[in-house]
Amino acid sequence: MLSSVTVRAPAKVNLALGVGPLREDGFHGLATVFHAVGLYDDLVATPLPEGSGVQLVVEGEGAGEVPLDRTNLVWRALELLEPYGASPDVSLTISKGIPVAGGMAGGSADAAAALVALDALFELGLAKETLAALGAELGSDVPFALHGGTAVGRDRGTELTTAMVRGSFHWVFALAHEGLSTPAVYRECDRLRGGSRVPEPQVPDPLMKALLAGDAVALGASLTNDLQHAAVSLRPQLGQVLDVGADYGALGGIVSGSGPTCAFLARDDEHALDLAVAFTASGVCRTVRRAVGPVPGARVVDQRAA
Ligand code: C5P
Repeated sequence: MLSSVTVRAPAKVNLALGVGPLREDGFHGLATVFHAVGLYDDLVATPLPEGSGVQLVVEGEGAGEVPLDRTNLVWRALELLEPYGASPDVSLTISKGIPVAGGMAGGSADAAAALVALDALFELGLAKETLAALGAELGSDVPFALHGGTAVGRDRGTELTTAMVRGSFHWVFALAHEGLSTPAVYRECDRLRGGSRVPEPQVPDPLMKALLAGDAVALGASLTNDLQHAAVSLRPQLGQVLDVGADYGALGGIVSGSGPTCAFLARDDEHALDLAVAFTASGVCRTVRRAVGPVPGARVVDQRAA
């Protein structure tokens, strides 16, 4: 029996995000390339005496914006695991290092962390595929938060294929003052498209080649995001953020997922530091983070015996 399990789960950036037409189920078919980067949320799960119920605590930057009730994805992850034997009496503490509502899948990372932590804590022994299928019920990005690394995502983003990547890449993230709602950005994308015919999205071949070759210059040139136009339409200041990145020689810059975080690819660690300083000095964003990718998906980093 374990007395606590700590799981670390990464943020993601979509190196390519091709968005198809709105489907009847309310989602959009995607052709995306997920890339896990070294910004993390940590989740600690501890069993409580019978009858205690759930104790959910969220700490760290932006914690005040995260709901603490049953709508929290971590709580919902627990409910999904109860039929498999997870106890409803558990303390769950999330330490946020991923920007909240930032287009970096922070909520999905927490959900993935909860699935992995509860599986370990209650010794459920669930297969990876089972956790991924349960994760897909919680959010489109949860299977990738479990998978980590770099992967092509299709369907809602839930059907994953590992991508071949050489080396690692240095990223700078410009964080905004206020989050953007993912459904609102998808709605704006549909509105901007009007009635025009939307082709089925494709993963760009030059991007996959750049990853395979570990070629940061080619990768920077092939970053693409179909939601960027919509995010900038809802938040025009993001245009200035993207301009600063271009002015300071970022190899590429895009809105991350549905935004408002913007992601910039640097040549190396030193260039990433230069870019970070430029963003801080420019005043166009709330704060800046540097991270390397790819990194592993949600995994146990500490566990204690009772
Ligand atoms: O699955 P997730 O909770 O991340 O999705 C949030 C919302 O984002 C969905 O309800 C939908 O409006 C939009 N979405 C979408 N197509 C996707 C993923 C998300 O339209 N592939």
